[in-house]
Amino acid sequence: MKFFLDSADISEVKQAADWGLVDGVTTNPSLMAKTGRPYQEVLREICAIVDGPVSCEVVASDAAAMLEEGEKLARLHPNVVVKCPLLVEGLKATRALSRRGIKVNVTLAFTPLQALAAAKCGATYVSPFIGRLDDIGQDGLGMVAQTLRIFANYGYPTQVLVASVRNVSHLVRAAEIGAHVATIPFGVLSQVLHHPLTESGLERFLADWRATKQKI
Ligand code: G3P
Repeated sequence: MKFFLDSADISEVKQAADWGLVDGVTTNPSLMAKTGRPYQEVLREICAIVDGPVSCEVVASDAAAMLEEGEKLARLHPNVVVKCPLLVEGLKATRALSRRGIKVNVTLAFTPLQALAAAKCGATYVSPFIGRLDDIGQDGLGMVAQTLRIFANYGYPTQVLVASVRNVSHLVRAAEIGAHVATIPFGVLSQVLHHPLTESGLERFLADWRATKQKI
C-alpha cells in the first residue's frame, strides 16, 4: 500500500519525506487555506520535496470551469493530480481531464457506486472518506472493501485511495483488504513507526552493550 501524506504544511511534508515514508501528497481546499499562503507557491514547494503524485483540488462548481482550473493546476508541475468532487459536474470534468492525459483523483466518495462511477469516467484515483463514514455510524472500510471487489470484478485500473484516516488501525485494515493507497495525516503517520516495546527493548540492548565498554 502506498502512503500519501494528507497535508499542505511544508514542514510536515519535509519531515515525513525525510522519514522516507511518503509516496505522494494530497491536499484539499481546507488544508490549503490553513497555510495562509498562495496555493501555487505551496503546491510547487510540495512537488519539489516529494517526487510522487500531489493532489490539488478544483474549487469551481461547473464542469467547464473545473476543466479550466484542472488544466491550470496540471501545468504547475508534471506530478500534479487534479482533485475533482464526486458530483455530476466533477465527473464530467474528470472524463474531460482524463481524456487530455491529466490524472484525476475523484474525492468525497461515500458509496461503492459513486466510486464505480468515478472509475467509469477514467479517474486515476478515487478517495473514499472512511473516517467521515464511521462518524455517521457507517462502515468506512467496509465500503472500501466493496469498492475493491467491484474494481477487481471488472478490471478497472482506478486506484482506491483511502482518505479521512483517523488512526493506525484504519491503516492496518486498509492494507489488509488491499487498498492501493492511504492518505495519512501527519499525526497518524508519525505513530506508524512507534511502539513502546521497540523503544524499551532498544534501551535495554544499549544499556547491556555499554556495560561491555566495547566499540563497533
Ligand atoms: O483526505 C481527506 C481528509 O483530509 C479529510 O479528513 O479527517 O477531515 O475527514 P477528515
